[in-house]
Amino acid sequence: MTSIAILGFGVVGGGVADLIIHNSKEVNHHGGDDINIKYVLDLRDFPDSPLADRVVHDYSVILSDPDVSVVIEVMGGSHPAYEYTVAALKAGKSVITSNKEVVANFGDEFLALARENGVCYRFEAAVGGGIPVISPMLSCVGQNKISEVRGILNGTTNYILTQMFTYGRSFESALKDAQEKGYAERNPDADILGTDACRKIAILTSLITGALIPTELIHTEGITKIRDNDVRAAEAVGCTIKLVGRGFAGEKPFCTVAPFLVPSDMPLSGVSGVYNAVEIIAEPLGNIMLYGQGAGAGATASAVVGDLMQVMRMGTGCYAPVLNKCTDIADYDGFASRFYIAADKAYSDIVLEAFPSAVVIPSESECAIITESMSERELSDRLSAIGVTPLSKIRVL
Ligand code: HSE
Repeated sequence: MTSIAILGFGVVGGGVADLIIHNSKEVNHHGGDDINIKYVLDLRDFPDSPLADRVVHDYSVILSDPDVSVVIEVMGGSHPAYEYTVAALKAGKSVITSNKEVVANFGDEFLALARENGVCYRFEAAVGGGIPVISPMLSCVGQNKISEVRGILNGTTNYILTQMFTYGRSFESALKDAQEKGYAERNPDADILGTDACRKIAILTSLITGALIPTELIHTEGITKIRDNDVRAAEAVGCTIKLVGRGFAGEKPFCTVAPFLVPSDMPLSGVSGVYNAVEIIAEPLGNIMLYGQGAGAGATASAVVGDLMQVMRMGTGCYAPVLNKCTDIADYDGFASRFYIAADKAYSDIVLEAFPSAVVIPSESECAIITESMSERELSDRLSAIGVTPLSKIRVL
């Protein structure tokens, strides 16, 4: 019998308990043992839950119980998740989490502590919800040279963008719809400003480079500036717009999150609604894409309990490489791509003169082009030289 404690009995914590209870046969078969949810830590009581008698409010009860070998931290946020994780690892308990914020901020520290204490720290559910991404990337693809990992890592923004493209909704109307359907929070900033996707790409990039990039170093743009005219321009050139996180293993690590025009022949363009997908570009493997539900109680619980099964079957063997904290990443201004630029129609002549190789997008109301590949620096220099502030500037994948 493996005894565990669940920290946080919200949507994900409840989903984890439900999965363990309802799929007990599969869990036993796959994990090789029965699981006893010995404690549930929460500020609240749950008198109607079948686990009502396991609820505790004092974390020291869990820490001091030698029966508990695995702590499932599904509280969210950095604190007290950080303190609880450190204490559990030091107490010789493995920790599994779905909490991307705490992994992005302190994952390097936790992996080192886990190694020192002969236990495991796993976080499959922190990226891509229920999609197995981290384990396959480390254990099945790790022998390749991974040059890039990129993906649609936030379901809320992907739902909003899908609504804008499929139903012609404005950003504001699509956001309202997402809130009414419960996909977007009442305060949607972490999703629409790109913060959530930034944490996830920081985690993925760390695993391909060995360096955890502090999120404040990551150039992050959300989807709030995407205009109806941008949607029409993208469609006119056979593209959709997606919020894409991209992480590169070059001489210096680099990652970013921003909206990208995605040509319709690229696999990420077909990822619609609340779905997520992660594409890994590896040599000699080539490109693979992992696709599925990036959020929700059942999907996230599947990834959390999958980690638990791995700890039960494989013991505390090393899960991820020890990570260094990265202080120096490649310069965003040097990051090259093609750009979609929209400017006031009055600037058409000077814009076309400054970008003679550009593809011109037909538009009655604006001057819209796709440039050749160039760095952010070169683009800004050329626009400054002609005194044009674009209405939109979106990279092309
Ligand atoms: N708010 C996140 C999303 C939830 O929309 O993808 C899962 O991390």
